[in-house]
Amino acid sequence: MDRILVNGGRVLKGEIPISGSKNAALPILAATILCRGAVTLKNVPMIRDITSMVAVLRTLGAEVRVERKENRVTVNTERIVRPEAPYELVKTMRASILVLGPLVATLGRGRVSLPGGCAIGTRPIDIHLAGLEALGAEITLEHGYVIAESRRLRGGYFRLPFPSVGATENLVCAAALASGRTILENAAREPEIVDLADFINAQGGAISGAGTERIEIEGVGSLAPREYSVMPDRIEAGTFLVAGAITGGRIAVRPMRRVWLASFLDTLDQAGVPVAVEDAEERITVSPPYRFRPVEVRTAVFPGFPTDLQAQMMVLSVLTEGESVYHETIFENRFMHVAELRRMGAHIEIVGKSAHVRGVPFLSGAEVMASDLRASAALVLAGLIARGRTTVTRVYHIDRGYERFEEKLAAVGADILRDRDAANEARMGS
Ligand code: EPZ
Repeated sequence: MDRILVNGGRVLKGEIPISGSKNAALPILAATILCRGAVTLKNVPMIRDITSMVAVLRTLGAEVRVERKENRVTVNTERIVRPEAPYELVKTMRASILVLGPLVATLGRGRVSLPGGCAIGTRPIDIHLAGLEALGAEITLEHGYVIAESRRLRGGYFRLPFPSVGATENLVCAAALASGRTILENAAREPEIVDLADFINAQGGAISGAGTERIEIEGVGSLAPREYSVMPDRIEAGTFLVAGAITGGRIAVRPMRRVWLASFLDTLDQAGVPVAVEDAEERITVSPPYRFRPVEVRTAVFPGFPTDLQAQMMVLSVLTEGESVYHETIFENRFMHVAELRRMGAHIEIVGKSAHVRGVPFLSGAEVMASDLRASAALVLAGLIARGRTTVTRVYHIDRGYERFEEKLAAVGADILRDRDAANEARMGS
């Protein structure tokens, strides 16, 4: 299993290229099931979760061509014959559930293994299923699978009890080909939902209101394939902006837009990190002088502070004098990075769903273990500022959501490398 080795203390400087968004590419790949013929997606990040979704599409019978160097994926779903996503694939990536809506919309039937929980929480799909029923699907659960069936989905009204990102995506896809109009209330407003709607509309769909809590979808007869480029990954961008700030350096991320990260950038500002936004150039920069101040962060659905940047932001607070407080309101167990940060010397107390961080003068490098995608990234960030060597194991978590993570950091001055075997350890020196 690969490990990432990092020697702390380097000041990062430079511009980091941001890859396509994992959380936009996944629902868009699932939505290719709605299209007749071959659809080419550009700016697709070459990461493990994309590989998993491609495996799911191939299992369904789709033809998928992946051109890694060009970050391009071409999908032809016309010959999908088996509308079934099996357990061994779904267990590796819960986002596989996103094929359910498109399958029942095009083939009248979808059978997907129930995703089960994961490290950050139980993550049920009750809202996905209630929404599909509101569109006329018949839902049955058997042997750990969910089956959704309908001769022809019909437009309907559904108010989501919680603005679930995945449920909104599944329902937008299902409604795109339903007969009649669908209204989704209390829908998720994340930028990735807008990207999905833009993709479907580019194929001839009729979706309006994406990005607001009320989305209207006029069902259309079919969708014709048109090339589409995925939006950049705002969570990757936020991760690298924290890396720049905590090392005392100057880091720009590009392409990125303020509107996709407004709440996070406001929090950086409150934390004493000067942020420069050049929207015309689609570039965001953090640069000294840094006078870190304690912050109170409450994760929330968009446009609130993204839960996917909670662990990374906490690393900034770990060395900030005073007490910062992090309230995780989206997932029930998203503080796995805390125990590992403590082993590096951080002072963090968990009380209920809040983490109280008291700044310490320094962190010490250690061997730490990743447990979920964003916690892993946070541990690498901690390694950038710790004294000595940090070894992060189980980096397959990082590979799920970050393209060339350590290469991009090394390119702006980090003393970091991926240890595929012991030989590298010697190369790292003391
Ligand atoms: C998406 O997950 C993202 N994943 C997550 O990113 C992100 O953390 C999350 O949205 C919140 O922003 C992808 O887009 C592939 P939710 P999703 O449905 O769709 C509860 C990362 O690191 N819920 O909005 O699964 C659920 O248990 C990943 O890139 C129900 O109760 O998130 C959770 O507590 C991690 N019933 C909350 O809602 C449902 O039917 C948010 O879940 C659905 C969700």
